[in-house]
Amino acid sequence: MSRPMRILILGGTTEARMLAERLAGDPTIAPILSLAGRTNNPALPDIPYRIGGFGGIAGLISYMRTESIDFVIDATHPFAEQMSAHAEAACRETSVPLALFTRPPWMPCDGDCWSEVENATAAALALGAIPRRVFLTVGRLQLPAFAAAPMHHFLIRTIDAPEPPPKLPSYRLLLARGPFSLADEIALMEAEKIDILVSKNSGGAATYPKIEAARKLGIPVILMRPPARAEVPCFHDLEAILGFIGDGAHQPPPEPRGV
Ligand SMILES: NC(=O)c1ccc[n+]([C@@H]2O[C@H](COP(=O)([O-])OP(=O)(O)OC[C@H]3O[C@@H](n4cnc5c(N)ncnc54)[C@H](OP(=O)(O)O)[C@@H]3O)[C@@H](O)[C@H]2O)c1
Repeated sequence: MSRPMRILILGGTTEARMLAERLAGDPTIAPILSLAGRTNNPALPDIPYRIGGFGGIAGLISYMRTESIDFVIDATHPFAEQMSAHAEAACRETSVPLALFTRPPWMPCDGDCWSEVENATAAALALGAIPRRVFLTVGRLQLPAFAAAPMHHFLIRTIDAPEPPPKLPSYRLLLARGPFSLADEIALMEAEKIDILVSKNSGGAATYPKIEAARKLGIPVILMRPPARAEVPCFHDLEAILGFIGDGAHQPPPEPRGV
Protein backbone atom coordinates (compact mmCIF):
# COMPACT_ATOMS: atom_id res chain seq x y z
CA MET A 1 0.00 0.00 0.00
CA SER A 2 1.39 3.45 -0.91
CA ARG A 3 2.10 5.89 1.88
CA PRO A 4 -0.08 8.98 2.49
CA MET A 5 0.76 12.08 0.51
CA ARG A 6 2.83 14.45 2.65
CA ILE A 7 1.52 17.98 2.24
CA LEU A 8 3.24 21.04 3.68
CA ILE A 9 0.72 23.84 4.26
CA LEU A 10 2.33 27.25 4.69
CA GLY A 11 0.01 29.04 7.01
CA GLY A 12 -0.57 31.88 9.30
CA THR A 13 -4.07 32.42 7.92
CA THR A 14 -7.62 31.27 8.53
CA GLU A 15 -7.53 29.61 5.10
CA ALA A 16 -4.54 27.46 6.08
CA ARG A 17 -6.17 26.38 9.31
CA MET A 18 -9.46 25.52 7.58
CA LEU A 19 -7.62 23.47 4.98
CA ALA A 20 -5.48 21.71 7.60
CA GLU A 21 -8.54 20.77 9.61
CA ARG A 22 -10.40 19.41 6.58
CA LEU A 23 -7.39 17.31 5.53
CA ALA A 24 -6.84 15.92 9.02
CA GLY A 25 -9.25 13.01 8.74
CA ASP A 26 -8.15 11.81 5.30
CA PRO A 27 -6.04 8.63 5.56
CA THR A 28 -4.51 9.24 2.11
CA ILE A 29 -3.01 12.54 3.23
CA ALA A 30 -0.52 13.49 5.93
CA PRO A 31 -0.67 17.28 6.29
CA ILE A 32 1.70 19.43 8.31
CA LEU A 33 0.94 23.08 8.97
CA SER A 34 3.82 25.55 9.15
CA LEU A 35 3.54 28.84 11.04
CA ALA A 36 6.07 31.66 11.10
CA GLY A 37 5.66 32.14 14.84
CA ARG A 38 4.94 35.87 14.59
CA THR A 39 1.87 36.11 16.83
CA ASN A 40 2.12 35.40 20.54
CA ASN A 41 -0.90 33.10 20.82
CA PRO A 42 -1.51 31.54 17.42
CA ALA A 43 -4.64 29.47 16.91
CA LEU A 44 -3.19 25.93 16.64
CA PRO A 45 -4.77 23.18 14.55
CA ASP A 46 -5.57 19.62 15.50
CA ILE A 47 -2.95 18.25 13.07
CA PRO A 48 0.86 18.11 13.13
CA TYR A 49 2.41 21.55 12.93
CA ARG A 50 5.77 23.26 13.11
CA ILE A 51 6.59 26.84 14.11
CA GLY A 52 9.39 29.16 12.93
CA GLY A 53 11.26 30.08 9.77
CA PHE A 54 12.98 27.40 7.69
CA GLY A 55 16.17 29.41 7.19
CA GLY A 56 15.62 30.85 3.72
CA ILE A 57 15.19 28.93 0.46
CA ALA A 58 18.04 26.51 1.28
CA GLY A 59 16.48 25.75 4.67
CA LEU A 60 13.09 25.12 3.10
CA ILE A 61 14.57 22.81 0.47
CA SER A 62 16.39 20.88 3.16
CA TYR A 63 13.21 20.62 5.27
CA MET A 64 11.17 19.42 2.28
CA ARG A 65 13.73 16.74 1.48
CA THR A 66 14.12 15.55 5.07
CA GLU A 67 10.36 15.38 5.52
CA SER A 68 9.74 13.84 2.06
CA ILE A 69 7.22 16.54 1.21
CA ASP A 70 5.18 15.61 -1.88
CA PHE A 71 3.14 18.78 -2.29
CA VAL A 72 3.26 22.34 -0.95
CA ILE A 73 0.20 24.53 -0.47
CA ASP A 74 1.05 28.19 -0.04
CA ALA A 75 -1.81 29.43 2.14
CA THR A 76 0.14 32.36 3.57
CA HIS A 77 -1.33 35.83 3.83
CA PRO A 78 -1.49 37.66 0.46
CA PHE A 79 1.17 40.08 1.77
CA ALA A 80 3.61 37.37 2.96
CA GLU A 81 5.71 38.06 -0.12
CA GLN A 82 9.00 36.57 1.01
CA MET A 83 7.61 33.23 2.16
CA SER A 84 5.68 32.85 -1.10
CA ALA A 85 8.78 33.62 -3.15
CA HIS A 86 10.80 31.09 -1.14
CA ALA A 87 8.14 28.43 -1.62
CA GLU A 88 8.13 29.03 -5.37
CA ALA A 89 11.93 28.80 -5.59
CA ALA A 90 12.16 25.72 -3.36
CA CYS A 91 9.42 23.86 -5.23
CA ARG A 92 11.03 24.70 -8.56
CA GLU A 93 14.38 23.40 -7.32
CA THR A 94 12.92 20.16 -5.91
CA SER A 95 10.23 19.67 -8.61
CA VAL A 96 7.62 19.44 -5.86
CA PRO A 97 4.20 20.72 -7.01
CA LEU A 98 3.00 23.99 -5.49
CA ALA A 99 -0.48 25.49 -5.34
CA LEU A 100 -1.80 28.71 -3.83
CA PHE A 101 -4.81 28.80 -1.56
CA THR A 102 -5.60 32.41 -0.96
CA ARG A 103 -8.39 34.93 -0.75
CA PRO A 104 -9.12 37.27 -3.63
CA PRO A 105 -8.53 40.98 -2.96
CA TRP A 106 -11.49 43.20 -2.16
CA MET A 107 -13.02 44.96 -5.14
CA PRO A 108 -14.46 48.48 -4.94
CA CYS A 109 -18.24 48.95 -4.67
CA ASP A 110 -20.44 51.98 -5.32
CA GLY A 111 -19.69 54.54 -2.64
CA ASP A 112 -16.11 53.43 -1.99
CA CYS A 113 -13.46 56.14 -2.23
CA TRP A 114 -10.18 54.26 -2.59
CA SER A 115 -6.66 55.30 -3.49
CA GLU A 116 -4.62 52.21 -4.31
CA VAL A 117 -0.89 52.33 -3.65
CA GLU A 118 2.04 49.94 -4.00
CA ASN A 119 3.39 49.90 -0.48
CA ALA A 120 3.48 51.52 2.97
CA THR A 121 5.88 54.27 1.86
CA ALA A 122 3.44 55.32 -0.85
CA ALA A 123 0.54 55.08 1.63
CA ALA A 124 2.30 57.45 4.04
CA LEU A 125 2.92 59.90 1.19
CA ALA A 126 -0.71 59.66 0.03
CA LEU A 127 -1.91 60.94 3.42
CA GLY A 128 -0.82 64.41 2.28
CA ALA A 129 0.42 67.40 4.23
CA ILE A 130 -2.77 68.48 6.01
CA PRO A 131 -3.00 66.86 9.48
CA ARG A 132 -5.63 64.11 9.60
CA ARG A 133 -6.88 61.48 12.03
CA VAL A 134 -5.80 58.22 10.45
CA PHE A 135 -7.02 54.71 11.23
CA LEU A 136 -3.91 52.63 10.46
CA THR A 137 -4.49 48.88 10.06
CA VAL A 138 -1.47 47.69 8.09
CA GLY A 139 0.18 45.41 10.66
CA ARG A 140 3.01 46.30 12.99
CA LEU A 141 5.86 45.57 10.56
CA GLN A 142 4.74 48.35 8.21
CA LEU A 143 4.55 51.07 10.87
CA PRO A 144 8.05 52.53 10.43
CA ALA A 145 7.07 53.90 7.00
CA PHE A 146 4.56 56.26 8.67
CA ALA A 147 7.32 58.10 10.54
CA ALA A 148 7.55 60.03 7.26
CA ALA A 149 4.07 61.49 7.98
CA PRO A 150 4.44 62.92 11.52
CA MET A 151 1.81 65.63 11.03
CA HIS A 152 -1.06 63.12 11.42
CA HIS A 153 -2.65 61.51 14.45
CA PHE A 154 -2.81 57.69 14.12
CA LEU A 155 -5.17 55.17 15.62
CA ILE A 156 -3.02 52.05 15.18
CA ARG A 157 -4.68 48.64 15.41
CA THR A 158 -2.44 45.56 15.61
CA ILE A 159 -2.75 42.05 17.05
CA ASP A 160 0.43 42.25 19.13
CA ALA A 161 2.14 45.39 20.38
CA PRO A 162 4.73 46.79 17.95
CA GLU A 163 8.27 46.36 19.23
CA PRO A 164 9.95 48.86 19.36
CA PRO A 165 6.99 51.25 19.81
CA PRO A 166 6.14 53.37 16.75
CA LYS A 167 8.22 56.52 16.35
CA LEU A 168 5.20 58.75 15.78
CA PRO A 169 4.49 61.96 17.67
CA SER A 170 0.75 61.36 18.01
CA TYR A 171 -0.89 57.94 18.13
CA ARG A 172 -3.13 55.62 20.13
CA LEU A 173 -2.51 51.88 20.04
CA LEU A 174 -5.42 49.46 19.96
CA LEU A 175 -4.58 45.76 20.33
CA ALA A 176 -7.27 43.56 18.79
CA ARG A 177 -7.63 40.47 16.61
CA GLY A 178 -10.47 40.20 14.05
CA PRO A 179 -13.09 39.38 13.05
CA PHE A 180 -14.64 42.79 13.64
CA SER A 181 -18.32 43.66 13.19
CA LEU A 182 -19.58 46.46 10.99
CA ALA A 183 -21.38 48.10 13.95
CA ASP A 184 -18.20 48.08 16.04
CA GLU A 185 -16.09 49.46 13.20
CA ILE A 186 -18.54 52.30 12.60
CA ALA A 187 -18.67 53.07 16.32
CA LEU A 188 -14.87 53.05 16.58
CA MET A 189 -14.33 55.30 13.56
CA GLU A 190 -16.98 57.74 14.80
CA ALA A 191 -15.66 57.80 18.38
CA GLU A 192 -12.11 58.39 17.12
CA LYS A 193 -13.25 61.01 14.58
CA ILE A 194 -11.36 59.18 11.84
CA ASP A 195 -10.77 61.14 8.60
CA ILE A 196 -9.07 58.39 6.58
CA LEU A 197 -8.43 54.64 6.74
CA VAL A 198 -5.16 52.98 5.66
CA SER A 199 -5.24 49.24 5.05
CA LYS A 200 -3.68 46.44 3.07
CA ASN A 201 -6.05 45.01 0.47
CA SER A 202 -5.92 41.66 2.25
CA GLY A 203 -9.27 40.28 1.06
CA GLY A 204 -11.36 37.96 3.20
CA ALA A 205 -14.34 38.55 5.45
CA ALA A 206 -12.72 38.98 8.87
CA THR A 207 -11.46 42.53 8.35
CA TYR A 208 -13.78 43.68 5.56
CA PRO A 209 -16.20 45.51 7.90
CA LYS A 210 -13.71 48.41 8.26
CA ILE A 211 -13.96 48.92 4.47
CA GLU A 212 -17.76 48.82 4.66
CA ALA A 213 -17.73 51.21 7.63
CA ALA A 214 -15.56 53.68 5.70
CA ARG A 215 -18.01 53.48 2.79
CA LYS A 216 -21.01 54.13 5.02
CA LEU A 217 -19.28 57.03 6.79
CA GLY A 218 -17.93 58.55 3.55
CA ILE A 219 -14.34 58.10 4.74
CA PRO A 220 -11.63 57.71 2.07
CA VAL A 221 -9.41 54.64 2.12
CA ILE A 222 -5.77 54.23 1.12
CA LEU A 223 -5.32 50.59 0.14
CA MET A 224 -2.01 48.83 -0.36
CA ARG A 225 -2.22 46.49 -3.37
CA PRO A 226 -1.24 42.86 -2.77
CA PRO A 227 2.11 41.88 -4.30
CA ALA A 228 2.15 39.68 -7.40
CA ARG A 229 2.42 35.97 -6.66
CA ALA A 230 3.84 32.98 -8.41
CA GLU A 231 2.08 31.75 -11.53
CA VAL A 232 0.98 28.39 -10.13
CA PRO A 233 -2.47 26.82 -9.72
CA CYS A 234 -4.41 29.22 -7.50
CA PHE A 235 -7.59 28.48 -5.54
CA HIS A 236 -9.88 30.78 -3.58
CA ASP A 237 -12.35 28.12 -2.61
CA LEU A 238 -11.82 25.36 -0.02
CA GLU A 239 -13.77 22.71 -1.92
CA ALA A 240 -11.86 23.47 -5.13
CA ILE A 241 -8.44 23.03 -3.54
CA LEU A 242 -9.60 19.91 -1.72
CA GLY A 243 -10.61 18.49 -5.10
CA PHE A 244 -7.24 19.42 -6.59
CA ILE A 245 -5.38 17.81 -3.67
CA GLY A 246 -7.64 14.76 -3.83
CA ASP A 247 -6.80 14.22 -7.50
CA GLY A 248 -3.10 14.21 -6.60
CA ALA A 249 -3.51 12.13 -3.45
CA HIS A 250 -5.02 9.25 -5.37
CA GLN A 251 -1.96 9.05 -7.59
CA PRO A 252 1.03 7.16 -6.16
CA PRO A 253 3.48 9.63 -4.55
CA PRO A 254 6.50 10.39 -6.71
CA GLU A 255 9.75 8.50 -6.11
CA PRO A 256 11.76 9.93 -3.20
CA ARG A 257 14.05 12.71 -4.30
CA GLY A 258 17.77 12.79 -3.53
CA VAL A 259 18.74 14.26 -0.14
N1 LIG B 1 2.11 40.07 5.97
C1 LIG B 1 0.90 40.19 6.51
O1 LIG B 1 0.22 41.21 6.36
C2 LIG B 1 0.32 39.05 7.32
C3 LIG B 1 -0.95 39.20 7.87
C4 LIG B 1 -1.50 38.13 8.59
C5 LIG B 1 -0.79 36.97 8.74
N2 LIG B 1 0.44 36.86 8.17
C6 LIG B 1 1.17 35.59 8.37
O2 LIG B 1 2.25 35.87 9.21
C7 LIG B 1 3.40 35.14 8.79
C8 LIG B 1 4.56 36.08 8.56
O3 LIG B 1 4.19 37.02 7.58
P1 LIG B 1 5.29 37.97 6.92
O4 LIG B 1 4.58 38.94 6.06
O5 LIG B 1 6.25 38.43 7.94
O6 LIG B 1 6.01 36.89 5.99
P2 LIG B 1 7.20 37.07 4.95
O7 LIG B 1 7.76 38.43 5.02
O8 LIG B 1 6.74 36.58 3.65
O9 LIG B 1 8.25 35.99 5.51
C9 LIG B 1 9.37 36.35 6.29
C10 LIG B 1 9.99 35.08 6.80
O10 LIG B 1 9.18 34.50 7.82
C11 LIG B 1 9.21 33.09 7.73
N3 LIG B 1 7.87 32.60 7.44
C12 LIG B 1 6.82 33.28 6.92
N4 LIG B 1 5.74 32.51 6.85
C13 LIG B 1 6.10 31.30 7.33
C14 LIG B 1 5.42 30.07 7.53
N5 LIG B 1 4.11 29.95 7.22
N6 LIG B 1 6.12 29.04 8.04
C15 LIG B 1 7.43 29.16 8.37
N7 LIG B 1 8.13 30.31 8.22
C16 LIG B 1 7.47 31.36 7.71
C17 LIG B 1 10.20 32.75 6.63
O11 LIG B 1 11.46 32.66 7.26
P3 LIG B 1 12.65 31.76 6.67
O12 LIG B 1 13.21 32.56 5.52
O13 LIG B 1 13.60 31.62 7.82
O14 LIG B 1 12.06 30.46 6.23
C18 LIG B 1 10.12 33.99 5.75
O15 LIG B 1 11.26 34.16 4.94
C19 LIG B 1 3.00 34.37 7.55
O16 LIG B 1 2.77 33.05 7.94
C20 LIG B 1 1.74 35.03 7.07
O17 LIG B 1 0.85 34.11 6.46
C21 LIG B 1 1.02 37.88 7.48
